Amino acid sequence: MKFTIQFLFCFFISVKTFSQLANPEISVIPKPVEMQRGTGHFNLPKNILIHSSAAPELAQTIVFLKERLTLPTGFHISTSGSPENASVKLLLNSVADTKLGSEGYHLSVTSSHVIIKANQPAGLFYGVQTLLQLLPKEIESKTLVKNVHWVIPSVEITDYPKLGWRGLMFDVARHFFTKDEVKQYIIAMARYKYNVLHLHLTDDEGWRIEIKGFPKLTEVGAWNVKRVGEFGDFIPPKADEPRDYGGFYTQEDIRELVQFAKDRFVNILPEVDVPGHSLAAIASYPELSCTPEAIKYKVRSGEKIMDWSRGAPPIALLDNTLCPANELVYSFMDTVISQLAELFPFEYIHLGGDEAPINFWQKNEQIKALMAREGIKDIKQVQGYFTKRVEQIVESKGKKMMAWDEVLEGGVSPSTAVMSWRGMKYGIEAAQNQHQVVMSPTTYAYLDYMQSDEISEPRVYASLRLSKSYEFEPVPAGVDPQFIKGGQANLWTEQVYNIRQAEYMTWPRGFAIAESVWSPNQQKNWPDFFSRVEQHFGRLDISETKYSPAVYDPIFKAGKTADNKLTIDLSTEVEGLDIYYSFDNSFPDRFYPKYMTTLTAPIDAKQLKVITYRGKEPVGRMLTMSIAELRKRARLY
Ligand code: ACM
Repeated sequence: MKFTIQFLFCFFISVKTFSQLANPEISVIPKPVEMQRGTGHFNLPKNILIHSSAAPELAQTIVFLKERLTLPTGFHISTSGSPENASVKLLLNSVADTKLGSEGYHLSVTSSHVIIKANQPAGLFYGVQTLLQLLPKEIESKTLVKNVHWVIPSVEITDYPKLGWRGLMFDVARHFFTKDEVKQYIIAMARYKYNVLHLHLTDDEGWRIEIKGFPKLTEVGAWNVKRVGEFGDFIPPKADEPRDYGGFYTQEDIRELVQFAKDRFVNILPEVDVPGHSLAAIASYPELSCTPEAIKYKVRSGEKIMDWSRGAPPIALLDNTLCPANELVYSFMDTVISQLAELFPFEYIHLGGDEAPINFWQKNEQIKALMAREGIKDIKQVQGYFTKRVEQIVESKGKKMMAWDEVLEGGVSPSTAVMSWRGMKYGIEAAQNQHQVVMSPTTYAYLDYMQSDEISEPRVYASLRLSKSYEFEPVPAGVDPQFIKGGQANLWTEQVYNIRQAEYMTWPRGFAIAESVWSPNQQKNWPDFFSRVEQHFGRLDISETKYSPAVYDPIFKAGKTADNKLTIDLSTEVEGLDIYYSFDNSFPDRFYPKYMTTLTAPIDAKQLKVITYRGKEPVGRMLTMSIAELRKRARLY
């Protein structure tokens, strides 16, 4: 009897293992356009032979695939000019498959072969990304992993992107990120088929790129005083505090980054943010300002310099704008743009244009004279004058200009592409006026926003949950899609002090945006997406990429009864979770009361502690919400 039970136990275990092996889950992000599951799987052989079409642009993809396969498997990998006996084939179509376009691919896995076909090298690179996601998650390891069945499920995939611009913006100005950290960011984004890295290279807090002929931009402009806490209201630095926090990229660094990104089919879009957000440049060269006191200005260290209490444009407490009435500014911009054009092969240069205050311009004699000379009636058009001048410079270097949506207000020619950030509406307006548009609205795509309740996240302007990001649809109904280049998520770093936090802010919302810009709309399905996100959490754990678990945090809703008592409703973004809670300051687990319906706080309770579980497993963080805060939210004082 004992033998029979043991035998049956072993039998069921091995059946399970076998069926998992034969039928491993497929969790590809972004979701492919078409996917048919086959039967069986491909066993990765211990000697892997890769054959590819002969094209120089494929060399890096092969190097990349070899490295990604070798490190975790320890298998021997070689390449061959002949397809015979090759386990993995990467083939460029001799006759283009029109459906695939320039970035699509077809991936075929059977028990006897792995073949990726594409019209262009980018498609093969993306096919390789998908292939790696079909392998067990341990493929993400940077070191050897033993006892893994390296199998790939049989599948036929035809895949191509919805949009040509699939961007992430990384603000390296508010906090500086080293060249290696930027590379780390590129590696992660390329896995999810992003193809534009927008580097926000200059702002009030730092000028991050060497410009020959203007050495003070990086000698002075790249450095401020280190402060931590809640950015925006830091105590202003004293005159003698060392300004040694920051950094910049030399032109050699930039060339290296551009090549590193190109090898992963990522273009780098450089942004120099002007005429506002320019304090670092002005602290370096005060003559670029209209304001004589600029001679005393220092690079910002996160102290208050704008008053936003009356909305946009902000009231500047010091003048952080380049002077549109000063010819020196245009010769400075000519030098900067020439060097950007030479360093960055991408067709666009981004020249900012957001949040430029006008209060210093309004009282400035040079600006008044400019307005009289040019017949400018409205101060807002002063920025329009500036934008048109810099656009001419950009075009004279053979590039196209892109700018934030505020440039629409001052008037700008249709050849300037618009990045719509204050919601979608300016993007829609721009597209209607025949501008090319990249949608990157705060509503769905601002990665600097908190990912759940502000009690559990570093405090910034607003919250943006994963499920909301997943609703991002960059091509609005009724807009001619030919004017929508694509979509982008933006990681501003006022409150992001290091690369681990940059990763935390990017993932998993970066998955949602990747899917919104790559996969067909009709495939959107939150439960299906989230089950793949969870699989990818496992992959990020192994690749040691940080991500946020905030999606598991409960959502608090405070209300009040007719007789003014506090009520508390809890919910979760994710289906199938249980919330356990306490009001007695102790730490709830699944043996505590489970949230079933609206709660009322006991009379003297000071805090509500909550934690989410899936079955017996805790999945969320333990959160402590003060009753006083809930009372405030319910407007019960
Ligand atoms: C922006 O977020 N100020 C473009």
